[in-house]
Amino acid sequence: KEVTIISAPFSAGQGKSGVEKGPDLLLKHGLREDLEALGWSVSIKEPLKGTGLDVPQSELAEEFDRSHGIAKRPTAVAQATEKIYHAVKEVSHQKKLPLTIGGDHSIGLSTLAGFLDANPDACVLWIDAHADINTPDTSPSGNIHGFPVALAMGLSREAWPKQFSWLDEAKTKLAPDRIAYIGLRDLDPCEKQRVRELGIAAYSMYHVDKYGIAKVVEMALAKVNPTGKSPVHVSYDVDALDPLFTPATGTPVRGGLTFREGMYIVEAVAETGNLGALDIVECNPDLASTDVHEIDTITAGCAIAKSAFGETLV
Ligand code: ARG
Ligand code: MN
Ligand code: MN
Ligand code: MN
Repeated sequence: KEVTIISAPFSAGQGKSGVEKGPDLLLKHGLREDLEALGWSVSIKEPLKGTGLDVPQSELAEEFDRSHGIAKRPTAVAQATEKIYHAVKEVSHQKKLPLTIGGDHSIGLSTLAGFLDANPDACVLWIDAHADINTPDTSPSGNIHGFPVALAMGLSREAWPKQFSWLDEAKTKLAPDRIAYIGLRDLDPCEKQRVRELGIAAYSMYHVDKYGIAKVVEMALAKVNPTGKSPVHVSYDVDALDPLFTPATGTPVRGGLTFREGMYIVEAVAETGNLGALDIVECNPDLASTDVHEIDTITAGCAIAKSAFGETLV
């Protein structure tokens, strides 16, 4: 039971400073000690340390790539995500479990590509209000935290900013039948079309209401991991939870998962014994309007980690 926490204090994948403070706050609230108490030996890696990329996005050069649609700050995002990719890849090859803490969700492209490099048979649960399957040619915002699934799949390769060519070295592309979404409720029109055309298993809040969370997780795992033998990468955007529980996040959408539904997902994955990688992203303390909102959001992030790493209620 060895986990490496990969700290990814990065915010240029979207336009709100503060999300780069997420990793330090999660650690300050006892993330490492929580995992140690569950019997894990914990190490920490900081791939952005000393790069100058771990600053509020407002301090990074403003940059728009308009060669195909729009992508904002492609140089900073490409540099940071490549560094995080190499960290996740190394940890995964060492057979340690990578727990990557953000930072915004653009780093999901690093964790997907890095974990797949060591585990080409991996499957993914993407827990999010959003599908994050835009490319510059489909994105309404140009925010790269809305791109990671598409980039890991290699979609619209011709529309990528040139800075992302490092990703061509990642040998395993994410296949559409290896990922399931849970918690969706805010997709752009082109994203809906992509999810449909690619036949991706997508469990929205409608499906959570209709079937209940236990059935949804069971269906999602049966779809992406039919043999039950593949390692499961859970990429957890805290905005999957209802803003009542994680208010301090950049793109909150009402009508989300309850706290218990959110924990149930990772508890159920833990129970299978197949958790292979975990990301916890998009905690932004600067967006909290009260101290309680900040604490609620950060402790929800810690609770996701604890549940995923084997904490049980009794
Ligand atoms: N779909 C929107 C966009 O592309 C929102 C993305 C939100 N992503 C996130 N990781 N919170 O801008
Ligand atoms: Mn989201
Ligand atoms: Mn490289
Ligand atoms: Mn996301």
